[in-house]
Amino acid sequence: MAEKLRQAKRFIITACGTSWHAGLVGEYLIESLARVPVEVEYASEFRYRNPIISPDDVVIAISQSGETADTLAAIREAKLKGATVIGMVNVVGSTIARETDAGVYLHAGPEIGVASTKAFTSQLCVLTQFALYLGRMRALSAEQGMAIAEELVNIPEHITRILDNVEPIKTIAKEYSRASNFLYLGRGVNFPAALEGALKLKEISYIHAEGYPAAEMKHGPIALIDENMPVVFIAPKDEIYEKVRSNIEEVRARNGRVIAIADEDDDRIADVATHVIRIPRTLPMLTPILASIPLQLLAYFIAVERGCNVDMPRNLAKSVTVE
Ligand code: G6P
Repeated sequence: MAEKLRQAKRFIITACGTSWHAGLVGEYLIESLARVPVEVEYASEFRYRNPIISPDDVVIAISQSGETADTLAAIREAKLKGATVIGMVNVVGSTIARETDAGVYLHAGPEIGVASTKAFTSQLCVLTQFALYLGRMRALSAEQGMAIAEELVNIPEHITRILDNVEPIKTIAKEYSRASNFLYLGRGVNFPAALEGALKLKEISYIHAEGYPAAEMKHGPIALIDENMPVVFIAPKDEIYEKVRSNIEEVRARNGRVIAIADEDDDRIADVATHVIRIPRTLPMLTPILASIPLQLLAYFIAVERGCNVDMPRNLAKSVTVE
């Protein structure tokens, strides 16, 4: 595969649900580390719109189960049109794993709960490594690559630290468990993390939640903000931190209540946010991995508080093999 990947002019990531959110993070990672264009598309849309695909394209299918009907149909379409197809799949020996030209297993272990959690964080880790690999074939220096790889190794330890201190998340969950709507906002690589946070809440607590890029708030969602609409911000100290802060201030100015996921050493965030959930400092491009842990926990504690069955939410299936 190495030669194909080196010569690829474009990557197309296709997936459904949470895996599609991972794909959006992947777009950011691959474009910034390897400087190759990436498109991300819902498999259900991709398969029916007669997509333009050339033999220089590499299509990446991301799937926990490896059995999702739309993703499977999308890879068949891509292969028919001559693209190389790579799988990032969790279930070993699944149909997508078998039908792709090559691939990487997520090695998350069996994921039992319907809502995807560890598969998502594993997808982000695999996508980071894949982007590093592509980057090193192109413009990324060994030094830059090593810095990212070394920080990736620290991620499990950072996650353990988050898991050791879940009480603040539980308290927030209790306070907001009766809300009817939630907004999740983030920018850059954390915009897909916001989408995923909102999806987790919807899936297991049945609370309506929307994810938006924080700057898009002013183009509509701002009309919804009042004291009954909790807004979750993902606000690590990256290059757009100040912009996110001013988005938080806009929400507070309209009586909105803000739950901010922020770096543990951010001593200014408490001035603007109503509640702060801390995550260890990491490289900005790896923050979605860490931010997704408190987002999953928030959805989990709210669902438990509401008496919902967290493992088997109503109307959802772990593996969607129908169209
Ligand atoms: C279902 C699951 C989701 C999952 C999606 C895609 O809707 O409930 O958790 O993200 O399918 O599944 P896949 O197995 O292809 O990642």
